[in-house]
Amino acid sequence: MSPRPLIIDCDPGVDDAVALLLAFASPDVFDIVGVTTVAGNVSSTLTARNACIIRDIAERADVPVFAGAAGPLMAETVEAGHFHGESGLGDLAIAEPSCDVSAAHAVHFLAETLVAAAPNSISLAVTGPLTNLALALRLAPEVGRALREVVIMGGARTEGGNITASAEFNIYADPHAARIVFASGLPIVAIGLDATHQVRTTDARMRELGALSSARARAAHQLLRFGEHVERTLAGREGAPLHDPCPIAYLMRPDLFTTVPACIAVETESTLTRGHTAVEFRLQAPTNTRWAAQVDADGVFDELIARLA
Ligand code: RIB
Ligand code: CA
Repeated sequence: MSPRPLIIDCDPGVDDAVALLLAFASPDVFDIVGVTTVAGNVSSTLTARNACIIRDIAERADVPVFAGAAGPLMAETVEAGHFHGESGLGDLAIAEPSCDVSAAHAVHFLAETLVAAAPNSISLAVTGPLTNLALALRLAPEVGRALREVVIMGGARTEGGNITASAEFNIYADPHAARIVFASGLPIVAIGLDATHQVRTTDARMRELGALSSARARAAHQLLRFGEHVERTLAGREGAPLHDPCPIAYLMRPDLFTTVPACIAVETESTLTRGHTAVEFRLQAPTNTRWAAQVDADGVFDELIARLA
C-alpha cells in the first residue's frame, strides 16, 4: 500500500517530539506533506524551532515545517513550559536546526494544500492547540473536503483534567478554536486523556527503548525520561503518558484503539471550567466524531520500538 499523505500540526513539546520521531521513522506508512507548528507548550517561535531540531535528528530534511499561530484565538495565552522544560524539549541538548521553517504561514499552507488536494486524500494529526486548524477553517471552509480524517490529541472525559481539574491542556490553551473544530463536522477521532493515560512508560518499556542505538531512539528515550520525571514530580504519577504519539499510532494501527461515536462540546465562557470537553455518547443526531475509550498500550509501544530501532 502506498504511503498515506499526512500533515502533523503540533506544539513540540516533549511528547510532540516523540510523535514526530515516530512519524518521521515511518516513510513506508506516511508521506508527510508538512509539519505545521503552533504556540502551545512553549512559544510559537520555540515550537517551530523544535520541530526543525527533531527533523534534523530524524534526518528528514525533505519534510517542510511551517510556523503557525502565535497564540489562541481569544483566550489569554497559557504555556506548559513547566511540563516540557524551558526549551520545550526537556533536557535535550539544543543545537540550532540545520534549516529553518518555510516562509509560508502554517495556516496558509494548510488552507492552500487542502483546497488543492483531492477529496478525502489527506490525514491530519493535531497534537497541540487547535488554533491553526480553526483559522484554516475560517480562511477556507472547503478544506474539510480533502480531509480523510482528523486525529486530535485533546480533551478528557472520565480522566478529568491535567492543566486544571476539568480541562486537558490542548483544549484549555485555545477553547474557542476547539469549539470551532468540534462543531465543524470534520471526520474527527479525538484521543483524550481517557486513552493517553493508558499508554505510559514503564521500566521494562524504557529498558527496551534504551537498548536501541539510533539517534532517534536515544532522543526519544531522553525525552521520555524527562517526561517521567515531570509526571512524578508535578502529577505524582508513575510513567510518562504518551499523549501525542497516540494519534500517530492510531493512524498506523487503528486496530489498537477502541473508539465510540460521540458529540464533543467545549466550555469557552467559564473561567473555572474553561476548556472542559463535554463528551456525550447519548447522541441526539448523527456525528462524525469518535472518542477513543481504550488503547492497547503494549501494541503502541511495540510500534514505537520497532520504528525507532
Ligand atoms: O494534555 C497533553 C497535551 O498537552 C499534549 O499534546 C502535550 O504536548 C501538551 O501539549
Ligand atoms: Ca502537544
